[in-house]
Amino acid sequence: MRIMIIGSGGREFSIGRVLKNDPEVSNLYFAPGNGATTMLGENIAIKDYEELAQFAVENAIDLTIVGPEGPLTDGVVDIFKARGLVIFGPSKAAAQLEGSKVYMKNFLAKYAIPTARYIETAHIGDAFKFIDSLTAPIVVKADGLCGGKGVIIAMSHDEAKVAVSEMLSGKSFGDAGLRVIVEEFLDGYELSMFALCDGKDFILLPAAQDHKRLLDGDEGPNTGGMGAYAPTPLVDDIIYEKVKERIVRPTLLGMQEEGAPFEGVLFIGIMIVNGEPITLEFNVRFGDPECEILMPLLKTPASELFYKAATKQLDTLNVEFYEQFAVGVVMASHNYPFDNSVPAEIVVDEIHHDEIAQNTHISYAGVSAEDGKLYATGGRVLVCVGLGDSIKQARDRAYMLCGQVHFAGKKLRTDIAYQALR
Ligand code: AMP
Ligand code: GLY
Repeated sequence: MRIMIIGSGGREFSIGRVLKNDPEVSNLYFAPGNGATTMLGENIAIKDYEELAQFAVENAIDLTIVGPEGPLTDGVVDIFKARGLVIFGPSKAAAQLEGSKVYMKNFLAKYAIPTARYIETAHIGDAFKFIDSLTAPIVVKADGLCGGKGVIIAMSHDEAKVAVSEMLSGKSFGDAGLRVIVEEFLDGYELSMFALCDGKDFILLPAAQDHKRLLDGDEGPNTGGMGAYAPTPLVDDIIYEKVKERIVRPTLLGMQEEGAPFEGVLFIGIMIVNGEPITLEFNVRFGDPECEILMPLLKTPASELFYKAATKQLDTLNVEFYEQFAVGVVMASHNYPFDNSVPAEIVVDEIHHDEIAQNTHISYAGVSAEDGKLYATGGRVLVCVGLGDSIKQARDRAYMLCGQVHFAGKKLRTDIAYQALR
């Protein structure tokens, strides 16, 4: 099988990594990929989606997998499908579940899928009235994509009103903030769950937990995610079934009803409040770094899973996972998440301990290659992944690998998976 992966992060590296080890896969392409994906396949520097689809036709690509949300909300899936290509991801219409928070919240309300109480509005007066009806903290969200920065948890009514005013005036997020959501604050623990969907059937992957804040103890600014682990013991079979029946299934039925059947990865940001899963948000792609720890847990060949998901055959697949745990620790560059950092050479020490070498690996993200060397070029640079029979063993192995990886300015959290280990 000839497979192309769209994207350039650690998420795409980790999908490529399992496909590289899959005997069904003969060729792997990354568009555009990063400085390390060339270890797995060929990087393709085509930005225009029509040209990329043409490349896929000419190179007889059997399956394209889309990593990030940008190409999905831009409609890359529609462009590929118009040419008869097989591609795994939602259509532009279905990608609105992530592209517009207003669309998502109204969808959840329409199909009675549990979510925080909210209003969506473009009018400051309505927003203020609803804010006055809530107790702080109060959550304010811009409608459109804001690179993960469009959510404000306001600690007072005044702070919530300032956030709303700045969004509605276009000051904080431009057009993305001209409609807002104001919603009640949910107090619980947060999970990431992923359903691979083919429009009618789905496979729910083991539950993961991300660590969004930069610093240990969930302090400091929000990031794209500083580490993750799975499966988490914070989800038992009862919660898992509730997520399937109350969230995923009605979402697939609802999207069929809306005329935009959902194909691709449905990423459900969940808050567990008193044992009940409440939908915080949907994304229409894998989480990063969650993908990096879920891919190595997959026992079913990834090519089969993604191909069947992309061709409406999930009902014929009996998916299997290794009975193991995975922990991923992100190493970020010095100025993350605020600014770029000076490129720094990455040095990975040789690992002599077989047990560590065999149960750990690196998923590369913000890296470039030059003269046979890898350089950290910013943001989240790489993820050190450890596997084990317990979360503790997987975490210890991941941190041992972290100790072998060096670049100037590297930063990482030292407490990934703490909620599962306390
Ligand atoms: P979102 O982009 O909607 O996932 O929001 C980003 C983060 O804000 C989430 O991962 C949560 O940690 C937090 N958040 C969003 N909505 C709420 C809410 N209603 N209550 C509590 N925390 C929230
Ligand atoms: N790790 C969270 C995300 O990918 O949005």
